[in-house]
Amino acid sequence: MNQKTESISAAIILAAGKGTRMASPLPKVLHPVAGQPMIQWPIQACIGAGIGQIRVVVGHGKELVKGIIEPLGASAFEQTLQRGTADAVMAAKVSELEGIVVIMNGDHPLISAEDLKRIALEFSVRKLDLAVVSAKVKVPGKAGRVVTRHGEFIAIVEAKDASADTLKIREVNAGLYFVRADLLQDVLPKVGNQNQSQEYYLTDIAAIAKDLGYAVGVIQENPRVAFGVNTQMELSQATKYHFRKRARYWMEKGCIIIDPSTTYIETGVQIEPGVVIYPNVHLRGRCIIGTCAVIENNSVLVDALVHKHAAIRANSHLDSCVVGSGALIGPYARLRPKAEIGEEAHIGNFVEVKNAVIGKRSKANHHAYLGDAIIGEDTNIGCGTITCNYAADKKKYKTVIGDRVFVGSDSQFVAPVKVGNDAVIGSGSTITKDVPEKALAVARGRQWMKENYISDPKASDSTGE
Ligand code: UD1
Ligand code: CA
Repeated sequence: MNQKTESISAAIILAAGKGTRMASPLPKVLHPVAGQPMIQWPIQACIGAGIGQIRVVVGHGKELVKGIIEPLGASAFEQTLQRGTADAVMAAKVSELEGIVVIMNGDHPLISAEDLKRIALEFSVRKLDLAVVSAKVKVPGKAGRVVTRHGEFIAIVEAKDASADTLKIREVNAGLYFVRADLLQDVLPKVGNQNQSQEYYLTDIAAIAKDLGYAVGVIQENPRVAFGVNTQMELSQATKYHFRKRARYWMEKGCIIIDPSTTYIETGVQIEPGVVIYPNVHLRGRCIIGTCAVIENNSVLVDALVHKHAAIRANSHLDSCVVGSGALIGPYARLRPKAEIGEEAHIGNFVEVKNAVIGKRSKANHHAYLGDAIIGEDTNIGCGTITCNYAADKKKYKTVIGDRVFVGSDSQFVAPVKVGNDAVIGSGSTITKDVPEKALAVARGRQWMKENYISDPKASDSTGE
């Protein structure tokens, strides 16, 4: 196997179609597959296979599609009218290309870089000018049928144009082609639109090229490569495939996943060994989870940095925040952007933290809102505490609470306000003035009583008069 593979010079990804069968207002290739737009998967496969030039044919929702593909390093080529897949390839300015070109449908998100490399090698070894990638599937449905005779390529027939006999063929076109640029430049202009859809079918290039004497072959692959997304049901299958694959990847790296079939880890997430993930956990965006952290059921983490040995208990929601090592979060906690929870701090049930620093070992265990606040170390925030950060002038103000402060339950801090180290806030206080260190502050109505307020019921008249 010393055969040297000629590298692929460019990829053309077809993504101009509307995706009518998706029945959704979103262009098909922007539907999310495991947390990223569908079109991102084939682009990443091409990048992973070392393809330097990636041309994406755009049409429906072109501005939105461009917004996704251009930051990934791909370039957009516009197909103004969706007149078929051959017309789409034409829009990618094939006259500028040379060497080997891979053409793929933008709606095949399960194709990997390894698939492309493996197929490229076979293309090279067999010295083909054009390879049609196919797969034998159980339910060929609406896919194009690959007609062969004694293993030799004859034609691709679209389901709409196929006879009853041809429809019985279970070998389908994967919408993935490896082709020499000069063949493409020669054959593409020869494709007509005399078919049921009156579209210019890219599939026709194979039979035309064969008639012209080019070396055309079929490369048979596994059904995954031929899996295209045309419906919402297929979209959910693609999502499930990628999430399971990702869970398997992290398990191989020492992550303990209780149920990989209900674990949703997006590709930008990093996980250290020994992390435990319970069912129905969603890790989105750019989360980093430190070693031996535990994330319990139904928690959603978006762009969260969780340090080692922290525990995120069930049903917590974390967004753009930092959790220190050994901290305990939840159950039912909400950490909003710029929440920074110190080492071994506790944020308990129904506590919301936003743009706030909570110092080491401090605790807010029950029902609290801590927004725009700085809270020191070893401070205890009682149940029902609120930092009143939002004022009538529609501006946000800060609450600063020192170290070792004891905040009694049901207290409010009307910001801007500061509380010094070692201070004690009496339960039920509404703190509007700064509290010096070591002071006791009580700001609530005094308890007063009226004795015998209710007269003795036995003594009263039964008529109530
Ligand atoms: C296509 C193939 C079919 C194959 C199947 C595999 C053709 C004619 N048929 O059928 O043989 O089995 O893929 O999934 O190629 N597109 C454009 N411009 C257009 C039309 C389509 O960019 O004018 C894009 C679409 O956005 C999509 C891709 O090309 O990403 C394939 O188009 P689609 O309509 O989904 O083709 P299929 O019917 O699936
Ligand atoms: Ca399709």
